[in-house]
Amino acid sequence: MEQPLPQIPAAFIDPRGGNVVEVQALLQQGLDLLLKLMSEATGRSPLPPLGLDLEAIATLPSDPQHWLTPLESLCRASMNAAHPGYMGHMDSLPTTVSIIGDLLVAALNNNLLCVEMSPVFSRLEALLLTQIAGLFGLGPQGGGLLTSGGTLANLAALTAARNCAFPQALTAGMMGLGRPVIFASELVHTSIHKAAMILGLGTEAVIALKTNGRGQVDLADLQAKLKTSRAQGQTPFALVGIAGTTVTGNIDPLGEMGAIAHDHGLWFHVDAAYGGALIWSDAENHRLEGIEQADSITFNPQKWLYVAKTCAMVLFRAFDQLSQQVQIPAPYMDHAPDCPNLGEISIQGTRHADILKLWLSFQHLGRSGYGALIERSYDLTRYFLHHIAQRPDLTLATLPEMNIICFRATPAHLPPEAWDDWNRELQRFLTAQGDFFLSLPRYRGNVWLKAVLLNPYTERSHLDRLFAQIDQFTPFPGE
Ligand SMILES: Cc1ncc(COP(=O)(O)O)c(C=O)c1O
Repeated sequence: MEQPLPQIPAAFIDPRGGNVVEVQALLQQGLDLLLKLMSEATGRSPLPPLGLDLEAIATLPSDPQHWLTPLESLCRASMNAAHPGYMGHMDSLPTTVSIIGDLLVAALNNNLLCVEMSPVFSRLEALLLTQIAGLFGLGPQGGGLLTSGGTLANLAALTAARNCAFPQALTAGMMGLGRPVIFASELVHTSIHKAAMILGLGTEAVIALKTNGRGQVDLADLQAKLKTSRAQGQTPFALVGIAGTTVTGNIDPLGEMGAIAHDHGLWFHVDAAYGGALIWSDAENHRLEGIEQADSITFNPQKWLYVAKTCAMVLFRAFDQLSQQVQIPAPYMDHAPDCPNLGEISIQGTRHADILKLWLSFQHLGRSGYGALIERSYDLTRYFLHHIAQRPDLTLATLPEMNIICFRATPAHLPPEAWDDWNRELQRFLTAQGDFFLSLPRYRGNVWLKAVLLNPYTERSHLDRLFAQIDQFTPFPGE
Protein backbone atom coordinates (compact mmCIF):
# COMPACT_ATOMS: atom_id res chain seq x y z
CA MET A 1 0.00 0.00 0.00
CA GLU A 2 1.28 3.41 -0.93
CA GLN A 3 1.94 5.73 2.02
CA PRO A 4 -0.43 8.74 1.92
CA LEU A 5 0.92 12.28 1.68
CA PRO A 6 0.84 14.23 4.95
CA GLN A 7 -2.54 15.92 5.33
CA ILE A 8 -1.28 19.46 4.90
CA PRO A 9 -3.36 21.18 2.24
CA ALA A 10 -1.20 23.19 -0.16
CA ALA A 11 2.12 22.00 1.35
CA PHE A 12 3.11 21.73 -2.32
CA ILE A 13 1.40 22.81 -5.51
CA ASP A 14 -0.07 19.60 -6.91
CA PRO A 15 1.40 19.32 -10.43
CA ARG A 16 -1.86 17.66 -11.56
CA GLY A 17 -3.91 20.66 -10.50
CA GLY A 18 -5.50 18.86 -7.56
CA ASN A 19 -5.29 21.71 -5.01
CA VAL A 20 -5.49 24.92 -7.02
CA VAL A 21 -8.17 26.37 -4.74
CA GLU A 22 -6.21 25.73 -1.54
CA VAL A 23 -2.96 27.01 -3.05
CA GLN A 24 -4.64 30.09 -4.40
CA ALA A 25 -6.03 30.84 -0.94
CA LEU A 26 -2.59 30.41 0.61
CA LEU A 27 -0.82 32.52 -2.02
CA GLN A 28 -3.49 35.17 -1.64
CA GLN A 29 -2.84 35.34 2.12
CA GLY A 30 0.87 35.83 1.41
CA LEU A 31 0.24 38.44 -1.28
CA ASP A 32 -2.25 40.33 0.91
CA LEU A 33 0.32 40.51 3.67
CA LEU A 34 3.04 41.59 1.24
CA LEU A 35 0.93 44.36 -0.21
CA LYS A 36 -0.20 45.56 3.21
CA LEU A 37 3.37 45.64 4.53
CA MET A 38 4.81 47.41 1.53
CA SER A 39 2.00 49.87 0.83
CA GLU A 40 1.83 50.88 4.49
CA ALA A 41 5.58 50.98 5.05
CA THR A 42 5.55 54.63 6.12
CA GLY A 43 3.47 53.53 9.12
CA ARG A 44 6.51 51.72 10.52
CA SER A 45 9.75 53.43 11.37
CA PRO A 46 12.78 52.87 9.10
CA LEU A 47 14.42 50.75 11.80
CA PRO A 48 11.61 49.44 14.01
CA PRO A 49 12.42 48.33 17.55
CA LEU A 50 12.60 44.51 17.81
CA GLY A 51 9.66 44.36 20.29
CA LEU A 52 8.65 40.71 19.73
CA ASP A 53 9.31 37.41 21.46
CA LEU A 54 11.76 36.07 18.92
CA GLU A 55 12.72 33.06 21.05
CA ALA A 56 9.12 31.86 21.14
CA ILE A 57 8.68 32.42 17.41
CA ALA A 58 11.99 30.67 16.65
CA THR A 59 11.15 27.50 18.60
CA LEU A 60 11.21 24.50 16.24
CA PRO A 61 7.67 23.04 16.11
CA SER A 62 6.90 19.32 16.06
CA ASP A 63 3.63 19.76 14.24
CA PRO A 64 2.26 22.29 11.74
CA GLN A 65 1.57 25.67 13.31
CA HIS A 66 -0.45 28.73 12.42
CA TRP A 67 2.20 30.98 10.99
CA LEU A 68 0.49 33.98 9.46
CA THR A 69 0.36 36.09 12.65
CA PRO A 70 3.99 35.44 13.72
CA LEU A 71 5.05 35.97 10.10
CA GLU A 72 3.45 39.40 10.13
CA SER A 73 5.19 40.20 13.44
CA LEU A 74 8.56 39.20 11.98
CA CYS A 75 8.02 41.37 8.91
CA ARG A 76 6.80 44.37 10.92
CA ALA A 77 9.90 44.31 13.11
CA SER A 78 12.27 44.01 10.14
CA MET A 79 14.50 46.72 8.73
CA ASN A 80 12.20 48.86 6.60
CA ALA A 81 14.11 50.04 3.53
CA ALA A 82 10.80 50.96 1.86
CA HIS A 83 10.46 53.93 4.24
CA PRO A 84 11.53 57.20 2.55
CA GLY A 85 13.51 58.03 5.72
CA TYR A 86 15.63 54.87 5.52
CA MET A 87 18.95 56.31 4.41
CA GLY A 88 21.51 54.46 6.48
CA HIS A 89 22.91 52.02 3.97
CA MET A 90 22.84 51.02 0.32
CA ASP A 91 19.54 49.15 0.72
CA SER A 92 16.88 49.99 -1.78
CA LEU A 93 13.18 49.55 -2.22
CA PRO A 94 13.02 46.59 -4.66
CA THR A 95 11.37 46.94 -8.04
CA THR A 96 7.94 45.32 -8.02
CA VAL A 97 8.92 42.98 -10.82
CA SER A 98 11.90 41.71 -8.87
CA ILE A 99 9.42 40.49 -6.27
CA ILE A 100 7.47 38.68 -9.00
CA GLY A 101 10.74 37.32 -10.40
CA ASP A 102 11.86 35.89 -7.07
CA LEU A 103 8.46 34.31 -6.51
CA LEU A 104 8.59 32.55 -9.88
CA VAL A 105 12.23 31.56 -9.47
CA ALA A 106 11.41 29.97 -6.12
CA ALA A 107 8.55 28.07 -7.76
CA LEU A 108 10.60 26.85 -10.72
CA ASN A 109 13.59 26.06 -8.43
CA ASN A 110 16.14 25.82 -11.25
CA ASN A 111 19.83 25.68 -10.46
CA LEU A 112 22.51 27.84 -12.06
CA LEU A 113 25.07 25.15 -11.30
CA CYS A 114 24.81 23.81 -14.81
CA VAL A 115 22.99 24.27 -18.08
CA GLU A 116 20.88 21.13 -17.80
CA MET A 117 19.50 22.31 -14.47
CA SER A 118 18.77 25.82 -15.76
CA PRO A 119 18.69 25.68 -19.56
CA VAL A 120 16.95 29.04 -19.91
CA PHE A 121 18.39 30.93 -16.97
CA SER A 122 22.05 29.93 -17.60
CA ARG A 123 21.75 31.18 -21.16
CA LEU A 124 19.78 34.27 -20.13
CA GLU A 125 22.49 35.12 -17.59
CA ALA A 126 25.26 34.64 -20.15
CA LEU A 127 23.46 36.72 -22.80
CA LEU A 128 22.52 39.57 -20.48
CA LEU A 129 25.91 39.80 -18.77
CA THR A 130 27.74 39.81 -22.10
CA GLN A 131 25.73 42.91 -23.00
CA ILE A 132 26.39 44.54 -19.64
CA ALA A 133 30.12 43.86 -20.02
CA GLY A 134 29.76 45.60 -23.39
CA LEU A 135 28.07 48.61 -21.76
CA PHE A 136 31.10 48.97 -19.48
CA GLY A 137 33.34 48.83 -22.56
CA LEU A 138 35.00 45.51 -21.78
CA GLY A 139 35.16 44.57 -25.45
CA PRO A 140 34.06 41.63 -27.59
CA GLN A 141 35.34 38.88 -25.27
CA GLY A 142 33.54 40.32 -22.24
CA GLY A 143 31.08 38.36 -20.14
CA GLY A 144 30.19 37.65 -16.56
CA LEU A 145 28.55 35.71 -13.78
CA LEU A 146 25.98 36.62 -11.19
CA THR A 147 27.03 36.13 -7.58
CA SER A 148 25.27 36.30 -4.23
CA GLY A 149 26.61 39.73 -3.34
CA GLY A 150 29.62 41.88 -4.09
CA THR A 151 31.90 40.08 -1.65
CA LEU A 152 31.74 36.93 -3.77
CA ALA A 153 32.11 38.99 -6.94
CA ASN A 154 35.32 40.55 -5.60
CA LEU A 155 36.55 37.11 -4.53
CA ALA A 156 35.82 35.68 -7.98
CA ALA A 157 37.66 38.55 -9.67
CA LEU A 158 40.73 38.28 -7.46
CA THR A 159 40.76 34.49 -7.81
CA ALA A 160 40.97 34.88 -11.58
CA ALA A 161 43.59 37.63 -11.17
CA ARG A 162 45.73 35.46 -8.92
CA ASN A 163 45.43 32.36 -11.12
CA CYS A 164 46.22 34.41 -14.19
CA ALA A 165 49.40 35.75 -12.57
CA PHE A 166 50.29 32.41 -10.95
CA PRO A 167 48.83 29.63 -13.13
CA GLN A 168 50.19 26.94 -10.78
CA ALA A 169 47.85 28.25 -8.06
CA LEU A 170 44.97 26.39 -9.73
CA THR A 171 46.44 22.96 -9.13
CA ALA A 172 49.63 23.06 -7.05
CA GLY A 173 48.62 25.96 -4.80
CA MET A 174 50.62 28.95 -3.63
CA MET A 175 53.60 27.28 -1.93
CA GLY A 176 56.87 28.84 -3.05
CA LEU A 177 55.25 31.66 -5.00
CA GLY A 178 56.85 34.47 -3.02
CA ARG A 179 54.71 37.26 -1.62
CA PRO A 180 51.94 38.18 -4.05
CA VAL A 181 50.31 41.51 -3.18
CA ILE A 182 47.28 43.54 -4.20
CA PHE A 183 47.16 47.35 -4.24
CA ALA A 184 43.98 49.13 -3.24
CA SER A 185 42.77 52.34 -1.67
CA GLU A 186 42.87 52.64 2.10
CA LEU A 187 39.08 53.05 1.72
CA VAL A 188 38.56 49.76 -0.10
CA HIS A 189 35.69 47.53 1.04
CA THR A 190 36.65 44.82 3.53
CA SER A 191 35.63 42.14 1.02
CA ILE A 192 38.99 42.70 -0.69
CA HIS A 193 40.71 41.77 2.57
CA LYS A 194 38.43 38.75 2.92
CA ALA A 195 39.37 37.70 -0.60
CA ALA A 196 43.08 38.01 0.20
CA MET A 197 42.54 35.89 3.30
CA ILE A 198 40.58 33.20 1.44
CA LEU A 199 43.09 33.16 -1.43
CA GLY A 200 45.81 32.24 1.04
CA LEU A 201 47.61 35.56 0.72
CA GLY A 202 46.56 37.01 4.07
CA THR A 203 45.04 40.39 4.70
CA GLU A 204 48.48 42.02 4.87
CA ALA A 205 48.83 41.28 1.17
CA VAL A 206 46.44 44.18 0.52
CA ILE A 207 48.67 47.24 0.37
CA ALA A 208 46.72 50.34 1.34
CA LEU A 209 47.08 53.38 -0.89
CA LYS A 210 46.67 56.88 0.50
CA THR A 211 43.69 58.90 -0.65
CA ASN A 212 43.19 62.59 -1.22
CA GLY A 213 40.57 64.84 0.39
CA ARG A 214 37.99 63.48 -2.07
CA GLY A 215 38.59 59.89 -1.03
CA GLN A 216 40.39 59.04 -4.27
CA VAL A 217 43.62 57.04 -4.64
CA ASP A 218 46.76 59.17 -4.60
CA LEU A 219 48.57 58.16 -7.79
CA ALA A 220 52.00 59.26 -6.56
CA ASP A 221 51.58 57.01 -3.53
CA LEU A 222 50.60 54.14 -5.84
CA GLN A 223 53.74 54.61 -7.96
CA ALA A 224 55.98 54.90 -4.90
CA LYS A 225 54.48 51.83 -3.19
CA LEU A 226 54.77 49.73 -6.34
CA LYS A 227 58.48 50.53 -6.44
CA THR A 228 59.03 49.78 -2.75
CA SER A 229 57.02 46.58 -2.94
CA ARG A 230 59.14 45.21 -5.78
CA ALA A 231 62.34 46.32 -4.02
CA GLN A 232 61.20 44.35 -0.97
CA GLY A 233 60.74 41.18 -3.03
CA GLN A 234 56.97 41.22 -3.17
CA THR A 235 55.10 40.33 -6.36
CA PRO A 236 52.33 42.81 -7.12
CA PHE A 237 49.67 41.16 -9.28
CA ALA A 238 46.49 43.22 -8.95
CA LEU A 239 45.33 46.79 -8.56
CA VAL A 240 41.81 47.54 -7.33
CA GLY A 241 40.02 50.77 -8.20
CA ILE A 242 36.73 51.76 -6.60
CA ALA A 243 33.71 53.33 -8.27
CA GLY A 244 31.69 54.26 -5.21
CA THR A 245 33.52 53.96 -1.91
CA THR A 246 31.30 52.43 0.74
CA VAL A 247 31.26 55.37 3.16
CA THR A 248 31.51 58.42 0.90
CA GLY A 249 30.63 57.19 -2.61
CA ASN A 250 33.79 58.52 -4.24
CA ILE A 251 35.39 57.31 -7.46
CA ASP A 252 39.07 56.55 -7.89
CA PRO A 253 40.93 57.97 -10.92
CA LEU A 254 40.11 54.85 -12.94
CA GLY A 255 41.73 55.92 -16.22
CA GLU A 256 45.10 56.68 -14.63
CA MET A 257 44.96 53.58 -12.43
CA GLY A 258 44.14 51.39 -15.43
CA ALA A 259 47.12 52.79 -17.34
CA ILE A 260 49.47 52.20 -14.38
CA ALA A 261 48.12 48.67 -13.92
CA HIS A 262 48.80 47.80 -17.53
CA ASP A 263 52.27 49.43 -17.50
CA HIS A 264 53.15 47.20 -14.54
CA GLY A 265 51.45 44.05 -15.82
CA LEU A 266 48.85 44.09 -13.04
CA TRP A 267 45.30 42.82 -13.26
CA PHE A 268 43.01 45.87 -12.96
CA HIS A 269 39.85 45.17 -10.99
CA VAL A 270 37.22 47.86 -10.49
CA ASP A 271 34.88 47.48 -7.54
CA ALA A 272 31.84 49.28 -8.92
CA ALA A 273 29.45 47.45 -6.58
CA TYR A 274 27.63 50.70 -5.96
CA GLY A 275 28.65 53.10 -8.72
CA GLY A 276 28.32 50.70 -11.65
CA ALA A 277 24.68 51.81 -11.91
CA LEU A 278 25.86 55.13 -13.36
CA ILE A 279 26.43 53.41 -16.68
CA TRP A 280 22.62 53.56 -17.05
CA SER A 281 22.56 57.35 -16.90
CA ASP A 282 23.52 59.36 -19.98
CA ALA A 283 23.96 62.42 -17.75
CA GLU A 284 26.25 60.78 -15.20
CA ASN A 285 28.05 57.88 -16.93
CA HIS A 286 31.05 60.12 -17.70
CA ARG A 287 32.02 59.69 -14.04
CA LEU A 288 33.00 56.07 -14.78
CA GLU A 289 35.49 57.06 -17.48
CA GLY A 290 38.42 54.65 -17.42
CA ILE A 291 36.37 51.66 -16.22
CA GLU A 292 36.64 50.25 -19.75
CA GLN A 293 40.29 49.43 -18.97
CA ALA A 294 39.31 46.95 -16.29
CA ASP A 295 40.13 43.26 -16.49
CA SER A 296 37.21 42.63 -14.15
CA ILE A 297 34.38 44.63 -12.58
CA THR A 298 32.14 44.00 -9.59
CA PHE A 299 28.68 45.48 -9.89
CA ASN A 300 25.66 45.03 -7.60
CA PRO A 301 22.26 45.72 -9.21
CA GLN A 302 20.87 44.98 -5.73
CA LYS A 303 21.96 48.46 -4.75
CA TRP A 304 21.30 51.33 -7.17
CA LEU A 305 19.34 49.32 -9.77
CA TYR A 306 16.75 48.44 -7.12
CA VAL A 307 16.79 44.69 -7.82
CA ALA A 308 15.85 42.59 -4.78
CA LYS A 309 18.77 41.03 -2.92
CA THR A 310 20.77 39.23 -3.84
CA CYS A 311 21.81 40.34 -7.27
CA ALA A 312 25.46 41.08 -7.93
CA MET A 313 27.84 40.31 -10.74
CA VAL A 314 31.44 39.94 -11.69
CA LEU A 315 32.31 40.88 -15.27
CA PHE A 316 35.47 39.84 -17.07
CA ARG A 317 37.24 41.31 -20.09
CA ALA A 318 38.28 37.80 -21.22
CA PHE A 319 35.38 35.70 -20.01
CA ASP A 320 36.39 32.60 -21.97
CA GLN A 321 39.72 32.46 -20.18
CA LEU A 322 37.95 31.50 -16.96
CA SER A 323 37.90 27.94 -18.28
CA GLN A 324 41.72 27.91 -18.04
CA GLN A 325 42.06 30.12 -14.99
CA VAL A 326 39.51 28.75 -12.55
CA GLN A 327 37.43 25.92 -14.00
CA ILE A 328 36.96 22.81 -11.86
CA PRO A 329 34.89 20.43 -14.01
CA ALA A 330 32.15 18.43 -12.31
CA PRO A 331 31.93 14.90 -13.72
CA TYR A 332 28.24 14.51 -12.96
CA MET A 333 27.06 17.23 -15.31
CA ASP A 334 26.49 17.23 -19.03
CA HIS A 335 27.93 20.05 -21.14
CA ALA A 336 26.05 22.20 -23.60
CA PRO A 337 27.85 23.33 -26.76
CA ASP A 338 26.69 26.95 -26.52
CA CYS A 339 26.93 27.83 -22.83
CA PRO A 340 29.34 26.86 -20.03
CA ASN A 341 28.17 25.25 -16.82
CA LEU A 342 28.35 28.41 -14.74
CA GLY A 343 28.94 26.48 -11.52
CA GLU A 344 32.20 25.09 -12.92
CA ILE A 345 33.73 28.52 -13.42
CA SER A 346 32.40 30.20 -10.31
CA ILE A 347 32.89 29.89 -6.58
CA GLN A 348 29.28 29.10 -5.80
CA GLY A 349 27.83 25.76 -6.79
CA THR A 350 24.07 25.62 -6.53
CA ARG A 351 22.81 29.09 -7.25
CA HIS A 352 19.49 30.92 -7.35
CA ALA A 353 18.34 32.33 -10.71
CA ASP A 354 18.80 36.00 -9.78
CA ILE A 355 18.95 36.76 -13.47
CA LEU A 356 15.16 36.64 -13.83
CA LYS A 357 14.49 39.63 -11.57
CA LEU A 358 17.34 41.55 -13.20
CA TRP A 359 15.98 40.85 -16.68
CA LEU A 360 12.45 41.70 -15.54
CA SER A 361 13.60 44.98 -13.96
CA PHE A 362 15.30 46.01 -17.21
CA GLN A 363 12.15 45.11 -19.12
CA HIS A 364 9.89 47.05 -16.79
CA LEU A 365 11.98 50.19 -16.25
CA GLY A 366 14.17 50.32 -19.34
CA ARG A 367 17.33 52.38 -19.63
CA SER A 368 15.24 55.53 -19.53
CA GLY A 369 13.57 54.56 -16.23
CA TYR A 370 16.88 53.83 -14.56
CA GLY A 371 18.46 56.98 -15.97
CA ALA A 372 15.60 59.07 -14.55
CA LEU A 373 15.88 57.43 -11.10
CA ILE A 374 19.62 58.06 -10.96
CA GLU A 375 19.32 61.65 -12.12
CA ARG A 376 16.53 62.30 -9.61
CA SER A 377 18.74 61.10 -6.78
CA TYR A 378 21.49 63.51 -7.90
CA ASP A 379 18.94 66.30 -7.73
CA LEU A 380 18.00 65.27 -4.20
CA THR A 381 21.69 65.09 -3.27
CA ARG A 382 22.15 68.71 -4.40
CA TYR A 383 19.22 69.70 -2.19
CA PHE A 384 20.75 67.83 0.76
CA LEU A 385 24.06 69.63 0.17
CA HIS A 386 22.21 72.94 0.07
CA HIS A 387 20.87 72.20 3.58
CA ILE A 388 24.37 71.36 4.81
CA ALA A 389 25.83 74.52 3.28
CA GLN A 390 23.33 76.60 5.28
CA ARG A 391 24.58 75.14 8.58
CA PRO A 392 28.12 76.10 9.61
CA ASP A 393 28.07 73.43 12.32
CA LEU A 394 27.79 70.62 9.76
CA THR A 395 30.87 69.40 7.87
CA LEU A 396 31.11 67.14 4.83
CA ALA A 397 33.60 64.25 4.79
CA THR A 398 34.13 64.66 1.06
CA LEU A 399 32.33 66.33 -1.79
CA PRO A 400 29.83 63.65 -2.88
CA GLU A 401 30.15 62.19 -6.37
CA MET A 402 27.07 60.02 -5.98
CA ASN A 403 23.92 60.01 -3.84
CA ILE A 404 25.89 59.15 -0.69
CA ILE A 405 26.43 62.02 1.72
CA CYS A 406 28.80 61.58 4.65
CA PHE A 407 28.79 64.46 7.11
CA ARG A 408 29.03 65.23 10.79
CA ALA A 409 28.05 67.83 13.30
CA THR A 410 31.02 69.93 14.37
CA PRO A 411 29.44 72.25 16.95
CA ALA A 412 31.73 75.22 17.46
CA HIS A 413 30.86 75.57 21.15
CA LEU A 414 32.35 72.14 21.90
CA PRO A 415 35.95 70.92 21.58
CA PRO A 416 36.59 68.53 18.64
CA GLU A 417 37.13 65.64 21.09
CA ALA A 418 33.43 65.87 21.97
CA TRP A 419 32.19 65.67 18.39
CA ASP A 420 32.15 61.87 18.04
CA ASP A 421 29.85 61.52 21.04
CA TRP A 422 27.68 64.38 19.81
CA ASN A 423 27.21 62.62 16.45
CA ARG A 424 26.48 59.27 18.12
CA GLU A 425 23.79 60.97 20.21
CA LEU A 426 22.44 62.81 17.19
CA GLN A 427 22.08 59.55 15.26
CA ARG A 428 20.29 57.91 18.21
CA PHE A 429 18.01 60.92 18.52
CA LEU A 430 17.06 60.77 14.83
CA THR A 431 16.43 57.01 14.96
CA ALA A 432 14.30 57.41 18.09
CA GLN A 433 12.09 60.04 16.43
CA GLY A 434 11.04 57.22 14.07
CA ASP A 435 11.25 59.16 10.81
CA PHE A 436 14.86 58.70 9.71
CA PHE A 437 17.67 56.21 9.89
CA LEU A 438 21.16 57.44 9.08
CA SER A 439 24.13 55.18 9.73
CA LEU A 440 27.15 55.99 11.83
CA PRO A 441 30.30 54.97 9.96
CA ARG A 442 33.83 55.56 11.17
CA TYR A 443 35.80 57.48 8.58
CA ARG A 444 39.41 58.61 8.96
CA GLY A 445 39.26 57.86 12.68
CA ASN A 446 36.06 59.77 13.46
CA VAL A 447 32.36 59.10 13.74
CA TRP A 448 30.23 60.45 10.89
CA LEU A 449 26.65 60.31 9.70
CA LYS A 450 25.88 58.71 6.35
CA ALA A 451 22.81 59.25 4.19
CA VAL A 452 22.19 57.24 1.01
CA LEU A 453 19.44 58.86 -1.06
CA LEU A 454 18.22 55.75 -2.85
CA ASN A 455 14.53 55.57 -2.09
CA PRO A 456 12.50 56.85 -5.09
CA TYR A 457 9.85 58.15 -2.67
CA THR A 458 12.22 60.34 -0.66
CA GLU A 459 11.28 63.94 -1.43
CA ARG A 460 12.65 67.36 -0.62
CA SER A 461 10.02 67.69 2.12
CA HIS A 462 11.56 64.66 3.87
CA LEU A 463 14.96 66.34 3.78
CA ASP A 464 13.45 69.56 5.17
CA ARG A 465 12.07 67.51 8.06
CA LEU A 466 15.36 65.68 8.59
CA PHE A 467 17.27 68.95 8.88
CA ALA A 468 14.58 70.41 11.15
CA GLN A 469 15.15 67.44 13.46
CA ILE A 470 18.92 67.92 13.27
CA ASP A 471 18.41 71.58 14.22
CA GLN A 472 16.20 70.56 17.15
CA PHE A 473 18.76 68.20 18.60
CA THR A 474 20.36 69.03 21.93
CA PRO A 475 22.09 66.01 23.44
CA PHE A 476 22.17 67.33 26.96
CA PRO A 477 18.82 68.82 28.00
CA GLY A 478 19.16 72.43 29.03
CA GLU A 479 22.31 73.14 26.98
C1 LIG B 1 32.26 49.06 -2.65
C2 LIG B 1 31.70 47.77 -2.14
N1 LIG B 1 32.22 46.62 -2.56
C3 LIG B 1 31.76 45.43 -2.12
C4 LIG B 1 30.71 45.37 -1.25
C5 LIG B 1 30.25 44.04 -0.75
O1 LIG B 1 29.01 43.72 -1.27
P1 LIG B 1 28.05 42.65 -0.55
O2 LIG B 1 27.67 43.21 0.78
O3 LIG B 1 26.93 42.52 -1.52
O4 LIG B 1 28.81 41.37 -0.40
C6 LIG B 1 30.13 46.56 -0.78
C7 LIG B 1 29.01 46.53 0.16
O5 LIG B 1 28.45 47.51 0.55
C8 LIG B 1 30.64 47.80 -1.24
O6 LIG B 1 30.16 48.96 -0.79
